[in-house]
Amino acid sequence: MTKIQFTINGQTKTIEAPPLKRLLDVLREDLHLTGAKEGCGEGECGSCSVLMNGELVNSCLVPALQAEGANITTIEGIAIGQKLHPIQQCFLERGGAQCGICTPGMILATHHLLQKYPQPTLLQIQEGLAGNLCRCTGYARIFDAVQAASNLPNP
Ligand code: FES
Ligand code: FES
Repeated sequence: MTKIQFTINGQTKTIEAPPLKRLLDVLREDLHLTGAKEGCGEGECGSCSVLMNGELVNSCLVPALQAEGANITTIEGIAIGQKLHPIQQCFLERGGAQCGICTPGMILATHHLLQKYPQPTLLQIQEGLAGNLCRCTGYARIFDAVQAASNLPNP
Protein backbone atom coordinates (compact mmCIF):
# COMPACT_ATOMS: atom_id res chain seq x y z
CA MET A 1 0.00 0.00 0.00
CA THR A 2 1.18 3.49 -0.83
CA LYS A 3 -0.02 6.85 0.41
CA ILE A 4 -1.23 8.94 -2.51
CA GLN A 5 -2.39 12.53 -2.29
CA PHE A 6 -4.24 14.44 -4.99
CA THR A 7 -6.87 17.08 -5.47
CA ILE A 8 -10.24 15.85 -6.57
CA ASN A 9 -13.05 18.19 -7.49
CA GLY A 10 -11.30 20.94 -5.54
CA GLN A 11 -10.64 18.91 -2.38
CA THR A 12 -7.33 17.46 -1.27
CA LYS A 13 -7.56 13.74 -0.54
CA THR A 14 -5.05 11.23 0.75
CA ILE A 15 -5.68 7.56 0.18
CA GLU A 16 -3.77 4.36 0.78
CA ALA A 17 -3.85 2.02 -2.18
CA PRO A 18 -1.70 -0.41 -4.10
CA PRO A 19 0.34 1.78 -6.46
CA LEU A 20 -0.99 0.01 -9.55
CA LYS A 21 -4.63 0.12 -8.53
CA ARG A 22 -6.56 1.73 -11.37
CA LEU A 23 -7.61 5.32 -10.82
CA LEU A 24 -11.11 4.26 -11.91
CA ASP A 25 -11.27 1.85 -8.95
CA VAL A 26 -9.83 4.41 -6.57
CA LEU A 27 -12.57 6.82 -7.61
CA ARG A 28 -15.39 4.32 -7.40
CA GLU A 29 -14.29 2.17 -4.44
CA ASP A 30 -12.19 4.43 -2.21
CA LEU A 31 -13.86 7.77 -2.88
CA HIS A 32 -17.38 6.54 -3.77
CA LEU A 33 -17.41 8.72 -6.87
CA THR A 34 -19.32 6.39 -9.16
CA GLY A 35 -19.90 8.82 -12.04
CA ALA A 36 -16.95 7.43 -14.02
CA LYS A 37 -18.14 4.14 -15.48
CA GLU A 38 -16.30 1.02 -16.53
CA GLY A 39 -17.09 0.04 -20.11
CA CYS A 40 -14.26 -1.80 -21.81
CA GLY A 41 -11.59 -1.51 -19.12
CA GLU A 42 -9.02 -1.27 -21.92
CA GLY A 43 -8.84 2.39 -22.89
CA GLU A 44 -11.16 2.04 -25.87
CA CYS A 45 -14.56 3.44 -24.86
CA GLY A 46 -14.02 6.59 -22.77
CA SER A 47 -16.81 5.85 -20.31
CA CYS A 48 -14.26 6.15 -17.48
CA SER A 49 -12.97 9.55 -18.66
CA VAL A 50 -11.89 12.13 -16.12
CA LEU A 51 -9.87 15.32 -16.38
CA MET A 52 -6.37 15.04 -14.91
CA ASN A 53 -4.29 18.21 -14.87
CA GLY A 54 -6.58 19.58 -17.56
CA GLU A 55 -6.20 16.59 -19.88
CA LEU A 56 -8.87 14.04 -20.69
CA VAL A 57 -7.69 10.61 -19.53
CA ASN A 58 -9.15 7.13 -19.39
CA SER A 59 -9.07 6.42 -15.66
CA CYS A 60 -9.06 2.66 -16.32
CA LEU A 61 -5.53 3.07 -17.70
CA VAL A 62 -4.11 5.35 -15.01
CA PRO A 63 -2.31 3.67 -12.08
CA ALA A 64 -3.14 5.30 -8.76
CA LEU A 65 0.47 6.32 -8.19
CA GLN A 66 0.39 8.42 -11.36
CA ALA A 67 -2.31 10.54 -9.73
CA GLU A 68 0.07 11.67 -6.97
CA GLY A 69 -0.12 15.48 -6.83
CA ALA A 70 -2.58 15.63 -9.71
CA ASN A 71 -5.61 17.83 -10.02
CA ILE A 72 -8.54 15.61 -11.02
CA THR A 73 -12.06 16.54 -12.02
CA THR A 74 -14.80 13.94 -12.29
CA ILE A 75 -18.37 14.39 -13.42
CA GLU A 76 -19.29 14.94 -9.77
CA GLY A 77 -17.18 18.11 -9.81
CA ILE A 78 -18.79 19.61 -12.90
CA ALA A 79 -22.16 20.72 -11.54
CA ILE A 80 -22.29 24.15 -9.94
CA GLY A 81 -23.66 23.44 -6.46
CA GLN A 82 -27.10 21.91 -6.95
CA LYS A 83 -27.30 23.34 -10.47
CA LEU A 84 -26.36 21.34 -13.55
CA HIS A 85 -23.41 22.62 -15.54
CA PRO A 86 -24.59 24.22 -18.81
CA ILE A 87 -23.09 21.29 -20.76
CA GLN A 88 -25.10 18.85 -18.64
CA GLN A 89 -28.20 20.95 -19.20
CA CYS A 90 -27.67 20.87 -22.97
CA PHE A 91 -27.24 17.08 -22.96
CA LEU A 92 -30.46 16.83 -20.98
CA GLU A 93 -32.44 19.17 -23.21
CA ARG A 94 -31.14 17.82 -26.53
CA GLY A 95 -31.52 14.13 -25.71
CA GLY A 96 -27.75 13.56 -25.67
CA ALA A 97 -28.09 10.89 -22.98
CA GLN A 98 -30.06 7.66 -23.13
CA CYS A 99 -28.75 4.80 -20.96
CA GLY A 100 -26.23 7.24 -19.48
CA ILE A 101 -23.22 4.95 -19.39
CA CYS A 102 -21.21 7.10 -21.77
CA THR A 103 -22.63 10.40 -20.56
CA PRO A 104 -20.19 11.39 -17.77
CA GLY A 105 -17.27 10.77 -20.14
CA MET A 106 -19.00 12.58 -23.00
CA ILE A 107 -19.62 15.61 -20.81
CA LEU A 108 -16.04 15.74 -19.57
CA ALA A 109 -14.79 15.29 -23.15
CA THR A 110 -17.06 18.15 -24.21
CA HIS A 111 -15.76 20.30 -21.37
CA HIS A 112 -12.21 19.58 -22.49
CA LEU A 113 -13.08 20.29 -26.15
CA LEU A 114 -14.76 23.61 -25.40
CA GLN A 115 -11.75 24.77 -23.38
CA LYS A 116 -9.68 24.22 -26.52
CA TYR A 117 -12.22 25.29 -29.13
CA PRO A 118 -14.99 27.45 -27.65
CA GLN A 119 -16.82 27.43 -31.01
CA PRO A 120 -15.92 24.04 -32.50
CA THR A 121 -16.86 22.96 -36.00
CA LEU A 122 -18.76 19.70 -36.42
CA LEU A 123 -15.49 18.05 -37.43
CA GLN A 124 -13.75 19.33 -34.31
CA ILE A 125 -16.63 18.00 -32.20
CA GLN A 126 -16.43 14.61 -33.92
CA GLU A 127 -12.66 14.51 -33.39
CA GLY A 128 -12.89 15.81 -29.82
CA LEU A 129 -15.33 13.06 -28.85
CA ALA A 130 -13.72 10.33 -30.96
CA GLY A 131 -12.39 8.54 -27.88
CA ASN A 132 -15.85 8.30 -26.32
CA LEU A 133 -18.17 5.63 -27.65
CA CYS A 134 -21.95 5.62 -27.36
CA ARG A 135 -24.10 2.61 -28.14
CA CYS A 136 -27.47 4.34 -27.81
CA THR A 137 -27.79 7.78 -29.33
CA GLY A 138 -26.29 7.45 -32.80
CA TYR A 139 -24.19 10.53 -31.85
CA ALA A 140 -26.36 13.12 -33.67
CA ARG A 141 -28.04 14.28 -30.47
CA ILE A 142 -24.74 14.35 -28.63
CA PHE A 143 -23.16 16.54 -31.33
CA ASP A 144 -26.26 18.72 -31.24
CA ALA A 145 -25.91 19.09 -27.45
CA VAL A 146 -22.25 20.05 -27.81
CA GLN A 147 -23.13 22.65 -30.44
CA ALA A 148 -25.85 24.06 -28.18
CA ALA A 149 -23.38 24.25 -25.28
CA SER A 150 -20.81 26.03 -27.45
CA ASN A 151 -23.35 28.76 -28.18
CA LEU A 152 -23.74 29.58 -24.49
CA PRO A 153 -21.58 32.11 -22.67
CA ASN A 154 -18.88 30.30 -20.61
CA PRO A 155 -20.11 26.70 -21.05
S1 FES B 1 -13.52 1.69 -19.37
FE1 FES B 1 -11.85 2.99 -19.63
S2 FES B 1 -11.77 3.40 -21.74
FE2 FES B 1 -13.37 1.94 -21.53
S1 FES C 1 -26.32 6.87 -23.89
FE1 FES C 1 -26.04 4.73 -23.73
S2 FES C 1 -23.99 4.43 -24.34
FE2 FES C 1 -24.36 6.52 -24.74
